[in-house]
Formats: sequence, C-alpha cells, structure tokens
Amino acid sequence: MKIISVVGARPNFMKIAPFIKAINEYNNNYTESEKKEAIEHILVHTGQHYDDRMSKSFFKALKIPEADINLGVGSGSHAYQVGNTMMEFEKVLQCEKPDWVVVVGDVNATLACSVTAKKEHVKLCHIEAGLRSRDMQMPEEINRLVTDRLADLLLTPDQLSIDNLKAEGARSDQIDFVGNIMIDTLLNNYDEARMIDLADVIKNNIIEDTRTNIPDFGKEPFAAITLHRPSNVDHEEILVALTDFIVNEITRDRYVIWPIHPRTKNKMMEFDIWDKLVTNEKVFVLHPLAYHQMLRLSMGADIMLTDSGGLQEECTVLRIPCLTLRWNTERPVTLKENGGACMLVGNSVEKIRKAYHESLKLNKEDVKIPQFWDGKTAERCLEAILNY
Ligand code: UD1
Repeated sequence: MKIISVVGARPNFMKIAPFIKAINEYNNNYTESEKKEAIEHILVHTGQHYDDRMSKSFFKALKIPEADINLGVGSGSHAYQVGNTMMEFEKVLQCEKPDWVVVVGDVNATLACSVTAKKEHVKLCHIEAGLRSRDMQMPEEINRLVTDRLADLLLTPDQLSIDNLKAEGARSDQIDFVGNIMIDTLLNNYDEARMIDLADVIKNNIIEDTRTNIPDFGKEPFAAITLHRPSNVDHEEILVALTDFIVNEITRDRYVIWPIHPRTKNKMMEFDIWDKLVTNEKVFVLHPLAYHQMLRLSMGADIMLTDSGGLQEECTVLRIPCLTLRWNTERPVTLKENGGACMLVGNSVEKIRKAYHESLKLNKEDVKIPQFWDGKTAERCLEAILNY
C-alpha cells in the first residue's frame, strides 16, 4: 500500500508525527512476522509555512523525517496558496499514484490536497474530521467542510464530531472515532518538555530585548498569550484594545509571556503598538517557539489566552485555565461546560476581563480528559486505513 500524507502549516506537524511513527512501527513489527506487505509512505510538505521557527524546528523536535517532496508554495492569498498547491500536488499524484492521501487538520494545504486527490480518483482520509465552528467567515471552516464532504474515511477526535458528520449526511461506515492525534504528540513529549528551564526559553527566544534578569517562573505567576487569527489581529481597533488590556491590566497581577506569530508582529508594527509591547517590563515577547518550549510554557502558565485551535485542546489535557479569544469554537469538547478547561470570550475586552478572574478559579479536578485522548490515536488511524 502506498500512502501520501500532507503537511503545510505549523499545526499539521504535531498531527503527522505520530502517524509516521505508527507507519514505521507497523513496517518494523508486523510485516516480516505476519508476512504483511510494508507500507510505502511519502511525506509531502506544501511549503505554506517555511520559516525555520514555523516549520523546520518542528521537524527536528518531533523527529519527522525531511519531507520527500516540498511544493514550495509559500505565503499569499488563499486562492494563491490553494491554487498553486493543487497544481503542484496534481503532478505528484500523477507521478506517484498512491492508494491513499492522508490529510490532517484544516489549513489551506488540507483543502487543496483533498480536492486534488479526489479529482485524481485517489482515496482520501481526513484525520481530525467533523469539527465545526459554523462560522463561515473562518477560512478553516470552509477547509473542514470541503475536506469532510470529499473524504472516503473520516477519523474523528470526539463524539460531537461524529454527530456533526452524520447530520451532514456522512455514512456510518465512513466514520471512525479514533481520538485526538495531537494528544499522542503531547503525551510522547511531556517528560522532555517538563525538564526545560523556562528562563532558558526566554533568554533564547526574546525579541528586541536584552534583559538578563529573568524572574523565577517556578514561583512568579504568568499568563501565556498567543494570537494569530485574522479576526483578532487584522483589525486595528481590535488588536489595539486586546494589546492594551494585556499590557495594562494583566500585568497588574502577573507577568505575560507572548510568543508572537509573524502575522501578528507585522500587524503590530503596522498599527504602531509594537514598541509599547516590547518595552513593557512585565511582558516577554518571544519568537514563535519550538514544540517542547511551547509545551513547557503552557505547562507553567497559570492562565492561557489564545485563539489557537490546538492550544484549547492542550490546555484541557494539561488542566490549564484557558480563555479562547473567539466567538465560537469548532472544539466545544474543550469548554468548561463540557468538562474542558476553556471559556469562550470573543474579543470584547469587557467579556475577557470578567472571564479572566473567573477562569483563574478553575478547579482542575473538574476537567475531564475526553475519551481516546490517550496517546494511541495514530495506531487507530492506521488500523482504520488498513481495514477500510
Ligand atoms: C495558518 C492556517 C491556520 C493556522 C495557522 C498556524 C490557513 C487558512 N490558516 O494561518 O489555520 O492556525 O497557520 O500558524 O491555512 N509567515 C511567515 N513565515 C512563515 C509563514 C507565514 O512570515 O513561515 C507570515 C507571512 O506574512 C504570511 C502570514 O504569516 O502571509 C500568514 O501565513 P499563512 O500561512 O497565510 O496563514 P497563518 O495566519 O499562519
């Protein structure tokens, strides 16, 4: 069997790492003893993310082999990224003729390669199927809907996703409940992350700052922040208000550590708020962090403020209070009312302020880890493909 799996952007890398590991283990453990055919695997990187800190560092940290093929698509509008990826990926499929294309998550690479695979009559498997925010302003929602409509095999992270897929007409025999593959990566790397000294993370990643006097973050409380969604960072009045709240109010009772996405940094410079952020004594602005460093940061934070999809899930597993700076989420299983650690607060400062104090009171024992978020999802994904 020949499988092509696809990655493009940062959140894809932690999802593909355990899948590749499962293929390698299958090839090493079973093929000889049970006379099964080995799986031929090809990794395609579309090149949507290309900076070392957004891509290469994850390959290295998660021991992902270098991509066999890089489509070199890079940055651009959605149509540019999707169109160019489709044209390049079509050539790969025509040359390699795989049995399966496996896509993960909801980025532009996921959409582009799903459409191309089906047009080339190749079976398509989507890992992380069925998540829905029902927000059509969100590019990822469009990517999720199209991918799931086309996929032959829909592998879901939770029960709610199965309900979503069935409501849209997917057949039961297309759906397999496998759990959350990104949590495989979290559990595989937890011990290594735990050993990291946060002061080193700050010293090695701080931007435009030479502070050597780093507080003892084993004792000093801090909030971790990540923001990158166009809905939060592309509008001046929203980004300025959020930054003011973080710099003027959160710093009253704790430090702030903020690894910054290139898109957000560019916007802050454009809106003239960058200097205010990097010169605040209680704020540490960092480059995008490598996988283990980010995990260590999340583990040590007493609160997370984020618009990331994956961090909502990681905070739930780590039982770290999390304010989700969005008006909706495709991951309702992470919300406090459903047993998670997160509260949906949108981007209105008034709402965030109120929830901030409430969220800090989270009783960790109330957080329930969702079913099958157990570190064995990748094996279940591979099994589902082999049994299809
Ligand atoms: C993409 C995904 C989003 C995911 C996010 C994680 C889509 C539609 N969006 O958004 O779901 O949560 O990745 O980061 O696929 N840039 C660099 N270096 C890079 C990559 C990007 O400087 O290596 C800058 C460029 O200015 C680029 C901008 O960041 O235009 C946005 O990158 P892009 O890949 O278009 O989308 P993200 O906002 O990263």
